[in-house]
Amino acid sequence: MRTKVVIVGAGPAGLMLGRLLDLAGIDNLILERKSAEYVLGRIRAGVLEQGSVDLMDRALLGERLHKEGLVHDGTVLSFDGDSHRLDFTALVGRHVTVYGQTEVTRDLMAARQGQTIYEAEDVALHDFDGKPYVTWRKDGITQRADCDYIAGCDGYHGVSRASVPAAALTTFERLYPFGWLGVLVDKPPVSDELIYAHHARGFALCSQRSPTRSRYYVQVDAAEKLENWSDDQFWDELRRRLDPAIAESLQTGPALEKSIAPLRSFVAEPLRFGRLFLAGDAAHIVPPTGAKGLNLAMSDVAMLADGLIEFYSEGSPAGLDAYSTRALARIWKAERFSWWMTSLLHVFPDAGAFGRRIQRAEFDYLVGSRAAQQSLAENYTGLPQ
Ligand code: FAD
Ligand code: DHB
Repeated sequence: MRTKVVIVGAGPAGLMLGRLLDLAGIDNLILERKSAEYVLGRIRAGVLEQGSVDLMDRALLGERLHKEGLVHDGTVLSFDGDSHRLDFTALVGRHVTVYGQTEVTRDLMAARQGQTIYEAEDVALHDFDGKPYVTWRKDGITQRADCDYIAGCDGYHGVSRASVPAAALTTFERLYPFGWLGVLVDKPPVSDELIYAHHARGFALCSQRSPTRSRYYVQVDAAEKLENWSDDQFWDELRRRLDPAIAESLQTGPALEKSIAPLRSFVAEPLRFGRLFLAGDAAHIVPPTGAKGLNLAMSDVAMLADGLIEFYSEGSPAGLDAYSTRALARIWKAERFSWWMTSLLHVFPDAGAFGRRIQRAEFDYLVGSRAAQQSLAENYTGLPQ
């Protein structure tokens, strides 16, 4: 078969790119390794920047988001029990919206017009420096699609970045010596707003998905095994890391989902190799602390879609030529912010007494300085494209 753009991966990046191309009348094909149910079953991000909400509106998918999404005007940061609320609206006139990645994905899947092939095995990218085509296997039969462009939206472990010759790629990486153990529970959130807590036992985050569904995380050692954590152990550890009054009102229950995510910062440069583009987690990873992963994936594909639409409607390659540089400028700012939030709020085993005092001084500076709070609020609610 022949199409204009083959999109590898049906996560939020691939599905949003497909949606924007569908709306512009640009023929595209999405190839996804897993089933749609599997993709929807992954519990990941929960916080949308205004730019991501705007993109859902542009994709004509804002209706449920505006009805069910929870507008958050601020958040709470706490350090060894000292809690401070940051009022994003007062600081920078912007807010974030709590609407889970699962819901974004569900809306995008429901609206999909172009073809998506789920459970496509052995996806392989060919000749993206010349006449690109993609092959895959479905039900034992190998198939092929010729195209003008390939969009690698297949996440950190995908085939797209791995298909680029190592010499053409520069990568930057930082691994953190800890992960996040997360639990999803059908109980009302302990607080109206998110609570990011630094505690001597490790970081904790109280998040949410809806008025009746909560998402909680605790920092664990990078080597920690999920089977070592019963639900009760998780709740006990979370309570220990929260303000006692908050811990007291925490409503617990059986975990609907429980998983450990490693924390990593990663960027691949550039984002274009001939007729192949990388976007989303295929190109970069942020530690989840700043709630940037999904939002970055959205801003990448907005830029990439604009470039493709400009090319097909006006014949101009300018947007596509600028994509890598433009997207990387924004990506590195989000990398910096996520690294900074992670550094402030986690316990680093090797920090020593000096490192711990610096963290405390950083927190004290933040709560005492409107300028520092504005900087956090500006980044958290989302930098402009
Ligand atoms: P993905 O969502 O990873 O989608 C890539 C898709 O490509 C997947 O569906 C995958 O199955 C498919 N694929 C992979 N390989 C192939 C192949 N060879 N062929 C075809 N298809 C393929 N961010 C936050 O902000 N907050 C969080 O709490 C948070 N938690 C996270 C927890 C985990 C375990 C992970 C992995 C990420 C988390 N993130 C979080 C990050 C956020 O979810 C991602 O940034 C976001 O999913 C990126 O979207 P994407 O579409 O680029 O990649
Ligand atoms: C969630 C995840 C984050 O990384 C974050 O900073 C805020 C919320 C969440 O999963 O709800």
